[in-house]
Amino acid sequence: MNRRVRKAVLPVAGLGTRVLPGAKTTPKNMLNVFDRPILSYVIEEGRAAGIEHFVFIVGRGQGAIEDYFDAAPEIENALEAKGKADILAEVRRDLPKPGQMSFVRQMAPLGLGHAVWCARDIIGDEPFAVMLPDMLMAAEPAALAQAVSAHDQVGGNIIVVEPAPEGEAHKYGIVDLESQTGRLNRMRGMVEKPAPGTEPSNLFISGRYVLQPEIFPLLEKQGKGAGGEIQLTDAMAELMKVQPFHALEYEGVTYDCGDKIGLLRANVAFALRHPSLGADARAAISGLL
Ligand code: UTP
Repeated sequence: MNRRVRKAVLPVAGLGTRVLPGAKTTPKNMLNVFDRPILSYVIEEGRAAGIEHFVFIVGRGQGAIEDYFDAAPEIENALEAKGKADILAEVRRDLPKPGQMSFVRQMAPLGLGHAVWCARDIIGDEPFAVMLPDMLMAAEPAALAQAVSAHDQVGGNIIVVEPAPEGEAHKYGIVDLESQTGRLNRMRGMVEKPAPGTEPSNLFISGRYVLQPEIFPLLEKQGKGAGGEIQLTDAMAELMKVQPFHALEYEGVTYDCGDKIGLLRANVAFALRHPSLGADARAAISGLL
């Protein structure tokens, strides 16, 4: 029986350069996608996968994230007094129970690997998820739930992947598979931004992982890699020498909210599918074309 995945690490301490100036005073992952911050969707996805504790790796000036996941008595009391029960429910839906979230300062954005390493003491000795919150994944079951099911099935480490757009594989971290049958395949390796024409597959690493705690000592001694940053990919490549990794091609659609056009796509897509405002959104968007 594989150990249950109960905790997720959400690294949010990056500078969000590609969505400046929007991310200058609002943390990137607090930017809105239609009517909610990006993080609201990601937490919902994590809960659907059975995550009980979320560990945020934050940087300076990101206090808005903690405040968002805390009670807001002034707003809540005002809504209650006015009888606005539906808005109140919306405001409260993302709230954790006390003790279900931790916030760790990364202190300097030294890279994704370093960010994950900052969670080591809170994760302890159990398998855990990593969710890159700027990747919004619309999926049923939720993308992370698909990864957790794969972990229940084969154990070890799971990396969620998806096909790169035609001719764009060289822009991503690409997985190398032992063989490809179905959606869950044992990995042989991975390469960060392979030279065009040398990609071992067209499947890129898209932002959800289940990792074993043995990654932490490897991250601890991991030097700087591509871009002068401490890369999670490098430590995973080390761990792969001693533990199995599987790539899971998940079923769903990814929106990369880390750049302006991706964020726009997410806004349009989530507006269109909104249960009560979708039809009005469609009319408003069509009117612009
Ligand atoms: P990205 O490179 O996509 O995010 O890192 P970024 O650095 O914010 O974006 P740009 O390139 O400047 O526009 C993937 C995730 O890892 C986090 C980011 O916040 C993002 O959610 N991250 C990255 C950290 O938490 N710490 C780091 O040192 C680097």
